[in-house]
Amino acid sequence: MHIPRHLAIIMDGNGRWAEQRHLPRISGHRQGVRVVRDIVKECHRLGIDYLTLYAFSSENWGRPEEEVSALMDLLGRYLQSELELMLKNRISLRVIGELDRLPPGVRSALKETVERTRNNGDMVLTLALSYGARNELVRAVRKIAAKVQAGLLLPGEITERTFADCLDTAGMPDPDLLIRTSGEMRVSNFLLWQLAYAEMVFTPVLWPDFNEDELHRCLEEYSSRERRFGLTHDQVAGLRPEGRRVNH
Ligand code: FPP
Repeated sequence: MHIPRHLAIIMDGNGRWAEQRHLPRISGHRQGVRVVRDIVKECHRLGIDYLTLYAFSSENWGRPEEEVSALMDLLGRYLQSELELMLKNRISLRVIGELDRLPPGVRSALKETVERTRNNGDMVLTLALSYGARNELVRAVRKIAAKVQAGLLLPGEITERTFADCLDTAGMPDPDLLIRTSGEMRVSNFLLWQLAYAEMVFTPVLWPDFNEDELHRCLEEYSSRERRFGLTHDQVAGLRPEGRRVNH
């Protein structure tokens, strides 16, 4: 099985999972956090270097206030309870998104966790929070425009690299694989620049029912695909595979 270097996941279906059980939506999110724990551990065990999870979108701010504050509360608790696991497994936490919109308590918990796990080298866990790709792109353009205005950069000197370095994901490789749960087949404003060449696997399983077996199934599907990056089959056959093989 090929293991992607960078796996991104849109965790979808918490609400439907709860509704199917006549439970409040927040119980779906609560179960979703348990699944986050299991999947982070499994990705670490499989040797994935970067795992990026879409935990809260810019659009999610429009949900009922009760749900938003319950999600923020879950996030704060998650950070508290997972710090030990991150330190033990040498996982470093990173966050992307418009973080100044988050409540101050969550912001400071994030800052502390990011700082305490900064030197961990086994896996980078990135949480996309208050994240929207269009917003990220606009913020990147603003950074570049400010450099041009300050006379530090000429418009003709702007390259794809300049641009990527101004995104929240600066320094990270692009995702090799995007998984979206719950049967929806959309990108929903997630990592629009970074997903340019990513393989996409959509599973009907709702996020609270997602587990290690389903992750393996998605990775098998990814392994069976041929990534050509715009080249021909013969050209690619002469190149080394970009992912690592593990016996599983
Ligand atoms: C989508 O389900 C999920 C979310 C909007 C939030 C994802 C959050 C978690 C899994 C928990 C918090 C995360 C961390 C990292 C602690 P939905 O509510 O859109 O489901 P629906 O489409 O069925 O309504």
